[in-house]
Amino acid sequence: MVWKLITYTELYAPVPPYKSTFAIGVVEDEKGNRVIARIDRKYFGRLKSNMIGEVIDEWTAFGALKKFIPKEEVRTPKVALITGGSGGIGSAIAIELAKAGYAIALSDVVYNKDTEKTLEIVKSLGVDSMFVAIDVSNRESVEKGVSEVINKFGRIDVLINNAGITRDAYLQRMTPEDWDTVIKINLTGAFYCSRAVVPHMTRYGGGVVVNISSIVGLIGNVGQTNYAASKSGLIGITYTLAKELAPYGIRVVAIAPGFVKTRMALAVPKSILRDYLKRSPIPRLIEPEEVAKLVRHVVENEALNGVVIPIDLGLTISSPRA
Ligand SMILES: NC(=O)c1ccc[n+]([C@@H]2O[C@H](COP(=O)([O-])OP(=O)(O)OC[C@H]3O[C@@H](n4cnc5c(N)ncnc54)[C@H](O)[C@@H]3O)[C@@H](O)[C@H]2O)c1
Repeated sequence: MVWKLITYTELYAPVPPYKSTFAIGVVEDEKGNRVIARIDRKYFGRLKSNMIGEVIDEWTAFGALKKFIPKEEVRTPKVALITGGSGGIGSAIAIELAKAGYAIALSDVVYNKDTEKTLEIVKSLGVDSMFVAIDVSNRESVEKGVSEVINKFGRIDVLINNAGITRDAYLQRMTPEDWDTVIKINLTGAFYCSRAVVPHMTRYGGGVVVNISSIVGLIGNVGQTNYAASKSGLIGITYTLAKELAPYGIRVVAIAPGFVKTRMALAVPKSILRDYLKRSPIPRLIEPEEVAKLVRHVVENEALNGVVIPIDLGLTISSPRA
């Protein structure tokens, strides 16, 4: 039986008791019989009157519901926005998500040879891409950058809060500026970006936010009070937003890498790096591509929400939390 969507409304506020957003439509069969049916939020932004589809009876925890499944699903490519995308991990994530078919919005405060190379590789993978200048620590810059991405692609489905810096010093030598700068970029930046992007995810029925934390946010590290606080803070953001945004189909996950072979890790004093490798059950640095593969898994696996996933060659289990 073929059904036609007569009229519909997208419900952006979760309706109790479902803890979920969805659309409600009036649908009509070939004989002119009309019923009210529920429509999955994944069709948000793409529903149109007179769309053809089928109606099924779906059993849910709340009883049987009529569900309309549109046939003419217009396939717009999904879009991933990566902050700090000119750096080692951000660049690897952009390439991995391009392999998964995402259009890529690469953002950073700097545009350099690495940015150019990343964009070239992304392009060679056959997906659309753009560079957008975003300083995550500046709210206006974040809002302007997100608007640019929406103007070009119309949607953002994945946000990778990856931009980050270190300003290491022992407590007494750590200046208030070192503290403020790290917190502003690593933590407040993720807040600004999530706040600007989430309404666009809601409009398209969902999305995924991945926060790039660190094992330092789980177990601490001498000389990194500011960095550790920012990375633990990202875990708090993850737990909270995972609860708050689930009704809108948005998942939020943090990943916590150990030392990854990038500019950031290679700037660490050799003695600290040696000590780290001595403690690690698998004594080597992690490749940015290995982190990127985990991010892709998080994006694709719809059961992951509100968790922190270490990727650390076993370091956290061999580090006493003394
Ligand atoms: N490398 C590691 O060992 C390691 C381990 C755990 C977590 N991380 C985290 O991974 C993320 C990426 O780090 P990386 O190792 O690729 O370092 P990286 O220095 O190569 O890249 C960081 C990127 O962030 C950008 N950035 C800095 N300030 C910014 C701002 N205000 N706005 C936007 N972008 C800004 C930089 O320009 C750079 O391109 C960081 O959040 C870092 O804390 C890194």
